[in-house]
Amino acid sequence: MPLTIAGQSIRCGNRNFVAADQLKHEKNGRTFVVRSLVERCDSGAARAVTWRTEPGAVCTSDLITGGLPDPINKLSADHHTPIISEGRPLLLLGSPLEKAWGFEHTFTMIDPRQVNDVSDDLGRTAKLPDVLNLFPEGFGINPETNLILLKILKPGSTPIKSDLYLEVHWEKEEAYVVTKIDREAWPDGVAQIVCGLDPDLLELYKYNFAESWEARYKADFKAASDAYRIEVYEKYTANGESAPEEVESKLRQEVYRFIGKKDVREGDVLVFPKGTVHSLQHGIQVAEILTPHYERGIILPTPQKVTSFGGDWSTDKAFDAMIMRSYESPDFNLVANPFGHQIDDLVSFQMGNYLLRAHRVYMESGGIFNDNTEYYPNLRSYHMLLPISGKLTVSSNIADSLLIGPEHGLIIPASTGEYVVGNPSGDVSIYLKMYLMACSR
Ligand SMILES: [Fe+2]
Repeated sequence: MPLTIAGQSIRCGNRNFVAADQLKHEKNGRTFVVRSLVERCDSGAARAVTWRTEPGAVCTSDLITGGLPDPINKLSADHHTPIISEGRPLLLLGSPLEKAWGFEHTFTMIDPRQVNDVSDDLGRTAKLPDVLNLFPEGFGINPETNLILLKILKPGSTPIKSDLYLEVHWEKEEAYVVTKIDREAWPDGVAQIVCGLDPDLLELYKYNFAESWEARYKADFKAASDAYRIEVYEKYTANGESAPEEVESKLRQEVYRFIGKKDVREGDVLVFPKGTVHSLQHGIQVAEILTPHYERGIILPTPQKVTSFGGDWSTDKAFDAMIMRSYESPDFNLVANPFGHQIDDLVSFQMGNYLLRAHRVYMESGGIFNDNTEYYPNLRSYHMLLPISGKLTVSSNIADSLLIGPEHGLIIPASTGEYVVGNPSGDVSIYLKMYLMACSR
């Protein structure tokens, strides 16, 4: 088994190679080696490859001692891994995970439970965190600790079965951009998302209980959630049985009595600051922008998927963090409207010492837009793009033009500098753009 060897330097002509092997242990007991080889010419240009292998006797530095003319190319071909040039944008592959409620496509997970891939235009792949470590300074902000979480959620069309948890976060903030309404589930194209507290019931509690309304509302809401857990989960589901339908339905409705409903159509944006109770419902497909926190308190699961959280509801934390108001639709500022395309400012979430910013860009057919990873003074942040309708071309001085469509994201390192987004299709293209901004807290 090789030792972890970080940064072994080898000189070949006018090029310098740095070979590294990192032994990694996963929680499930699996051990593997992340290999990388970075080539830097005396001119300053740099490129690299990285891949994962089983532990063995060979080190990465051993692989380039045979006088190979182009070891980066050879290793890329041998391991079907992309050649990463410093500053080159990379495709984020949405990897589908089947859930009890439908499908979740994650783009930027680097959690041990799931690690996403990046790809070049030839379909060669590498693991996202391994790639980020090749030229970490080029991304501008440490992406391993400050990577915006990006997902597409595709619930099925069946009520209850395809609804997501009713949940509250105490750190994570998230926004949904509704990309598709399933007409089988919602024939007129108007769906309902469950979020915030019920506005009418709030008024009733305020009228009936004056200054103690908040404590009473929360206590009654929690009592309904506890009743569901005890009478459905603990009595039936935990024992592998289904609760009688009328019992499950009655207790679920009792919880839902406290929650507001909001009509949504394709194109709508919902923003859930931490503390907002919410549940994505069946038949509503969304692109989801999230801060990279992995926590949630469950107020109500759907009856068939309770096993996936192992009984850890964290309900008390959910109620402690809950914002006691109905959902308020955010106002979106128009950032710019240059040359026939529109840029909406969607969210500004706190993420450590940064603000996660997200824009939605509408681009006319044939339009082009010069963007820049260095727009902001004193800050260099990677950018992320996700088309939600139509196609885009993205080109820069560093890389050939990439064509991306829905369900492919793109990460653009800060060191890319200027890049050009174009809409080659015959219709309007819509894409999301995310980046980080330094902030003072
Ligand atoms: Fe959530």
